[in-house]
Amino acid sequence: MTETTKFGGPENDLSNQKPGETTAFLSSSSNLVSSEKHTERVIVITSGKGGVGKTTTTANLGMSIARLGYRVALIDADIGLRNLDLLLGLENRVLYTAMDIVEGQCRLDQALIRDKRWKNLALLAISKNRQKYNVTRKNMQNLIDSVKELGFHFILIDCPAGIDVGFINAIAPAQEAVIVTTPEITAIRDADRVAGLLEANGIYNVKLLVNRVRPDMIQKNDMMSVRDVQEMLGIPLLGAIPEDTNVIVSTNRGEPLVLNKKLTLSGIAFENAARRLIGKQDYFIDLTSPQKGMFQKLQEFFLGED
Ligand SMILES: Nc1ncnc2c1ncn2[C@@H]1O[C@H](COP(=O)(O)OP(=O)(O)OP(=O)(O)O)[C@@H](O)[C@H]1O
Ligand SMILES: [Mg+2]
Repeated sequence: MTETTKFGGPENDLSNQKPGETTAFLSSSSNLVSSEKHTERVIVITSGKGGVGKTTTTANLGMSIARLGYRVALIDADIGLRNLDLLLGLENRVLYTAMDIVEGQCRLDQALIRDKRWKNLALLAISKNRQKYNVTRKNMQNLIDSVKELGFHFILIDCPAGIDVGFINAIAPAQEAVIVTTPEITAIRDADRVAGLLEANGIYNVKLLVNRVRPDMIQKNDMMSVRDVQEMLGIPLLGAIPEDTNVIVSTNRGEPLVLNKKLTLSGIAFENAARRLIGKQDYFIDLTSPQKGMFQKLQEFFLGED
C-alpha cells in the first residue's frame, strides 16, 4: 500500500455530512458550527493544466464555507509561486511557512494566519517565493494532521499546476478532490489525466468545477457546454463558473468575489458550489427574487432545464 492509499476510499465520502444546522452567515466565533464529533474533510483543489482557476476556486470556496459557519483552513501548496495570500489580501501577514515549521524555525500557530474578516478562516503557505522546497509527502501528512487537531471542519489544499512532486505532495493528505477545468480540450485532457492519478492514489471522491464558461460562445457552438465537459470526464459536477472580469478585479483587491456586497454571477456560482460541497443541494434561502431569477437563468443556460 502506498502512503496515500490509506487516506482514500469511498468509505470516506463525507459529502452528506451534516455537522450542524447553522447556515446563516455568521461572524462571531460563538456562532460557529460545533467542532464536537465532527469529521474533518481534506479536499485538494487540482487541475493538471496551469492557470485554469485553482487558486481562485480555493479562495472563494474557502471564504463561502467559512461564512456558513465552518472552520476552514486553506493550504497554499504551490511551490515558489504562492498567491493564495494575495487573493485573500493577506500577503503582508505571511511571515512563516510550512517550510519554516519543518525546519524547526517556528510553530504551526505562527505560520497559520487568520483571515482579517472571518476569524474561522485560516491560511497556511507551504513555501515562500524563492524558498528552498524540500517538503516530503510525510511532512505534508504530518502537517495536515496537526492542522486537523486544531479543530478545522474543512482543509482545502490549493495544488500547484502539473503532476510532479508538488502535486504528489499536495494530494497526499487529501481524501477528496475538486478538479478545476476550463471548457478547452487541453485543460480537459489534463483534468482527465489528473482524475486517473487521483484514483491511483486512492482518492475516489472527486468532483468537477468548470471555470471560465462563456454562454455566448456556447450558444454559437464555439465552446463546449458544461454538460459536454462533464460527460467527457464522467465526474460529478460541483459547479460551473462563468468568465467574469470581476474575478480579476477581486484578485487585485485581495477580496474573494463571494464577499462582494452585490453578488456577481461568478460569486453566486461559487457560493452555490460551496453549498454543494458541504452537502446542501438547496440554495439561496435568502436570495432576493431578481438575483434568484438571474441565477436560475444562469443554471438553466449551463445545465439545461431538466
Ligand atoms: N471565472 C473567471 N473569469 C475571469 N478570469 C478568471 C476566472 N477564473 C480565473 N480567472 C483568472 O485566471 C487567472 C488564473 O487563475 P488562478 O490563479 O486562480 O489559476 P490557477 O489554476 O491557480 O493557476 P496556477 O496553475 O498558476 O496556480 C487569474 O488571473 C484569474 O484572475
Ligand atoms: Mg494557483
